[in-house]
Amino acid sequence: MLFPANFLWGGAVAANQCEGAYNEGGKGLSIQDVLPHGLKSAPTAEPTPDNLKLKGIDFYHRYEEDLKLMAEMGFKVFRTSIAWSRIYPLGDEAEPNEQGLAFYEKLFATCHKYGMEPLVTISHYETPLHLARKYNGWASPQMIGFYEKYVRTIFDRYKGQVKYWLTFNEINSVLHSPFMSGGIVTPQEELSLSDLYQAIHHEFVASALATKIAHEIMPEAQVGCMILSMPTYPLTPNPDDIIKVMECDHFNDFFGDMHVRGEYPGYMKRYFRENGIKIKTTPAELALLKEHTVDFVSFSYYLSLCEGVEGEDIVGNFMGGKKNPYLQASEWGWPIDPQGLRYILNKFYDRWQKPLFIVENGLGAKDELVNDGQGGKTVQDDYRIRYMTEHLKQVAEAIEDGVPVMGYTSWGCIDLVSASTAQMSKRYGFIYVDRNDDGTGTLQRYPKQSFYWYKNVIASNGACL
Ligand code: BG6
Repeated sequence: MLFPANFLWGGAVAANQCEGAYNEGGKGLSIQDVLPHGLKSAPTAEPTPDNLKLKGIDFYHRYEEDLKLMAEMGFKVFRTSIAWSRIYPLGDEAEPNEQGLAFYEKLFATCHKYGMEPLVTISHYETPLHLARKYNGWASPQMIGFYEKYVRTIFDRYKGQVKYWLTFNEINSVLHSPFMSGGIVTPQEELSLSDLYQAIHHEFVASALATKIAHEIMPEAQVGCMILSMPTYPLTPNPDDIIKVMECDHFNDFFGDMHVRGEYPGYMKRYFRENGIKIKTTPAELALLKEHTVDFVSFSYYLSLCEGVEGEDIVGNFMGGKKNPYLQASEWGWPIDPQGLRYILNKFYDRWQKPLFIVENGLGAKDELVNDGQGGKTVQDDYRIRYMTEHLKQVAEAIEDGVPVMGYTSWGCIDLVSASTAQMSKRYGFIYVDRNDDGTGTLQRYPKQSFYWYKNVIASNGACL
């Protein structure tokens, strides 16, 4: 199994799902602080005690201990996000919050102390709540200016400390969750397609601007877009199914095309034309998009779907499709398809010819803490080891196919609060965190069996898979 010598092995989290300390260190509220039940819930007026993200896994206070464990596994890279509302608590004020800036400075210094390169998502489903409520999030063009101010601040402060940046987590998810992904308060059923695509345009401009500014301030930095990937297969060879798949792919590929090719593709112009979608763009914005494309493409991969004119509907993270009769599913109903990862790596590289970074992949499962026979506790998570072994073998296949893969950061390398369901019991980690769905638990950390397995994978650079 051959992985490149400089392959970036590691793990990923997001601030809002692990930090907790939602009102400490001068932090303002983010949209997650009023989303107690995840994707499908309506926002509450104020933070409520049933919101597990308010405390998360207390990473804010325990990051030193956690990063040490990740270093023990041999991580080369650690992906996290900066909570925008720690830096600009409201989002539209003039001056940043020094305590927030200092927090991430210590966090990144600790990564380096343990030999890990930070990979930072600038915006991971955590728009400051004030920007959502006052401006309707990315529906407003003013967001571009607020985001620009935020990225200038963090790039100035963390230059030399952070080399890899992602502009928006799963940017295409805004199609399915305008509030969580884009801070857009207008209920989805009332949001017109013109307003939705206008918001997306604002995000594209902000992303290109961030890429431009990053390259100016940090010439050594590499900036990537981040796409929610979901390979879609035709349910049957019926040409109607093939065309349906092509159209589904277009809706998602659009986001990568904009970041890599830097211009609106013909298929989207047609879609806009035929659906009466009108968006405002300026020549300066279009020039910016064309000129400041990304250095690499990153993506999450959990499952594949089918599309077709018939068949049973299922829902994965954010998007749905048709059930694939050949695949088993996770306890949360997400189809498990390791080969889909090889397929999407090839597809993305064929399309964009850019280095690719798998920044999320993993199995959300129920774990049971048991005695390890040596006086401690652990989780016998062979199912997770199996899942990841099969997926990593497919990464190796794609590398053999000639795809340049920069690295792999497994999702939720330490248990955290789920994004879609807001549960603790949907666990992804190599490290078990003692916290339950009702909020009880000691928060103590326990390495699972997958912890030792992953350590071995990294130490052998994948040879042991
Ligand atoms: C991705 C998100 O959609 O999937 C993460 O970027 C999320 O934030 C991950 O946690 C897994 O989804 P879930 O709903 O199982 O937490």
